[in-house]
Amino acid sequence: MIHYSQIYYDMKNAVFILASAIWKRGAGGNGKGAVNMIFESHAHYDDEDFDADREELLSSLAGHGIGTVINIGASLAGSEASVKLAERYPFIYGAVGVHPSEVEELSGEGMERLRALCGHEKVVAVGETGLDYHYPEPAAALQKEWFARQLALAREVKLPVIIHSREAAKDTLDIMQAHHAGEIGGVVHCFSYAKEMAREYLDMDFYFGIGGVITFKNAKKLKEAVQYIPLDKILMETDSPYLSPEPHRGERNSSLNLPFVAEAIAELKGISCEEVVEATERNARKLFGL
Ligand code: NI
Repeated sequence: MIHYSQIYYDMKNAVFILASAIWKRGAGGNGKGAVNMIFESHAHYDDEDFDADREELLSSLAGHGIGTVINIGASLAGSEASVKLAERYPFIYGAVGVHPSEVEELSGEGMERLRALCGHEKVVAVGETGLDYHYPEPAAALQKEWFARQLALAREVKLPVIIHSREAAKDTLDIMQAHHAGEIGGVVHCFSYAKEMAREYLDMDFYFGIGGVITFKNAKKLKEAVQYIPLDKILMETDSPYLSPEPHRGERNSSLNLPFVAEAIAELKGISCEEVVEATERNARKLFGL
């Protein structure tokens, strides 16, 4: 019997206990294989930060209760690399798209390449795509154009879309509404806005990717938003190698840190970590058709 209240006393130990508990249940022989295992909905394992130990790390995930990973393309090369990882590892699936900070590389030819990759049997989403106004470049007009075109691609190939939106809440919403994104479906990854904006995305039936930021002490508005968002609309993600949760903030992130995210969501929702793991896995399977 695990008492989750103990977790507060030793987070590091908690990760081990939680991962073991999930793994034991997952491996419990109910005939369905990877049930009750953590679903990582957003990682960039093609990133050079993993060049030194990628194979070792990815091979260790199942033993720590991570059952499925979506590797997200952030550029054309990253999209190709996502597909390669998906071909190599049975538990990895790919998303293909170009991040708003990388859209200067896009062209009609690039879009054709993305369209072709969408036909791969292990590609389950278009993304990440969206708007990022944190830096002045690329120009907003250019970001908007390629966001709209990637939304149109998702509609055409009938895949959900993975949206990146940073300091661009209104423009993101305007483009999504203009393109009837509710009919396409998808997830707002690393959701970072307040609950008023969550309501807008909920109206379009979108999911919310929640990651390491939820463990940060100053994430008050996000915590309120997560309390507000129904559990059946939440996915867990890391955005590895970025955004490590507490107590590993600032370090390289990996899916091994997801129990810290599960714990933070569980605390906000007043439920157990296992319920969070179970619900977020079910939600992700539904969204990505797995
Ligand atoms: Ni990302």
